Amino acid sequence: MKSFYIETFGCQMNVHDSEKVIGTLERRGYAQVQSPDEADLVLFNTCSIRDKAEQKVFQRLNENKRAKGKVIGVLGCVAQQEGEKIFEKAPHVNLVVGSASYPKLGELLVQIERGDRRVTGLSLDSDDTFETPMTRRDNPHRAYITIIEGCDKSCAYCVVPFTRGHERSRTSDSVMNEARQLAAVGYSEIQLLGQNVNSYRDPSPAGWNFAQLLEAVGSVQGIRRVRFTTSHPRDFGKDIVDAIDRTETLCNMVHLPVQSGSTHVLAAMQRQYTRDEYMRRIEWLKGSKRSIALSTDIIVGFPGETEEDFQMTLDLLDQVEYDSIFSFKYSPRPNTGALSLGDHIPEEEKGRRLTMLQEKQRAIQIRRNSALVGTEQEVLVEGFNSSTGQWIGRTSQNRVLNFVAARQALREEMIGKYLPVRVTRAGPNSLAGECAIAV
Ligand code: 5AD
Ligand code: SF4
Repeated sequence: MKSFYIETFGCQMNVHDSEKVIGTLERRGYAQVQSPDEADLVLFNTCSIRDKAEQKVFQRLNENKRAKGKVIGVLGCVAQQEGEKIFEKAPHVNLVVGSASYPKLGELLVQIERGDRRVTGLSLDSDDTFETPMTRRDNPHRAYITIIEGCDKSCAYCVVPFTRGHERSRTSDSVMNEARQLAAVGYSEIQLLGQNVNSYRDPSPAGWNFAQLLEAVGSVQGIRRVRFTTSHPRDFGKDIVDAIDRTETLCNMVHLPVQSGSTHVLAAMQRQYTRDEYMRRIEWLKGSKRSIALSTDIIVGFPGETEEDFQMTLDLLDQVEYDSIFSFKYSPRPNTGALSLGDHIPEEEKGRRLTMLQEKQRAIQIRRNSALVGTEQEVLVEGFNSSTGQWIGRTSQNRVLNFVAARQALREEMIGKYLPVRVTRAGPNSLAGECAIAV
């Protein structure tokens, strides 16, 4: 039997792509192993969102240079972006496949198996989505489901439209069938995935939009929690907030990447909304009868970002009071529109802005988390930390809540359960509490 090793970089889409790639390989009789040394086929599923992510891939390829007799494959975003150039930069690579070509992975493996040593899947004009008869999910409670692939936006900093191709939605039938099958085998949490889930459009005659699909997935028997990522503010409709209000299983959390608090920078980024338009969506979310946690992505040091623009981003943090943020220094990417903009911000200045932003957000998080002390939160138990003796839970708002249980319990009694936990302490990134229920 042939063996394979796979390493995954990047976002949840990539993590889930790898689950589908693993399922495809296992169906063809390959067995997964835990180190590249033991494997006949070594795969890197790669990310190119920022230069650092891409550098890491070439570093890992370099470390596996002397892997004699093995087939080395590069999958995902760096594969698509660099294409055949990868064979020049790393001549020991044999297989280069972008995500839009995964539906053809079976054929590409046949070529590899018959001995071809330069195999590529790089076409971007695919209308297919990657649907597999077998997906290897490691988490038995939470499952990803892709609803839309690719991206039709053209944000000036972003490489994704070049690496994942144009938007393709799956039919609502196929998404619903997958959700029902997952519920039937015991999954209770579903995370719907897409680069821009809000532009989901059912290609079948039912013609559902995203809010309709979301509500339907939330109504599947056995599903207790539904999350979704990522949203684009421009396409984020009030109907999503209404769906959350109506459907208890839809989690109290929305990730709505803003990127900048300055309308001027948003225009340069080609984000297609102003600060005020973004804030209108935040007001819908804050107006919900549920207590919806908010998170966002922010880029500092985009070309032309003045001190005043940056202050507007700091001010936005105060205005919105996010529960968490992901923040990045702008990194110039190949093919993107921002490359032709002047006025690049020095690295040192980007670093200063990032630190200021993160310090401000840390204070906001301490404040927001502290307000939860004394409340009771339902958690899904995800694990046990033997060094602290605490169970690791996650709330509907996506907060980590570490807790001690009323009595000693076995992992299999606890993990995957939903339990009420009283919050006793708060830090910037997590909560601590106690669960009174004896499982
Ligand atoms: N430089 C820095 N951050 C970026 N992101 C996307 N492209 C870049 C880039 N070129 C960030 C955005 C996006 C998140 C996934 O990564 O904030 O929302
Ligand atoms: Fe990285 Fe973006 Fe590709 Fe995800 S879609 S792997 S974040 S470049």
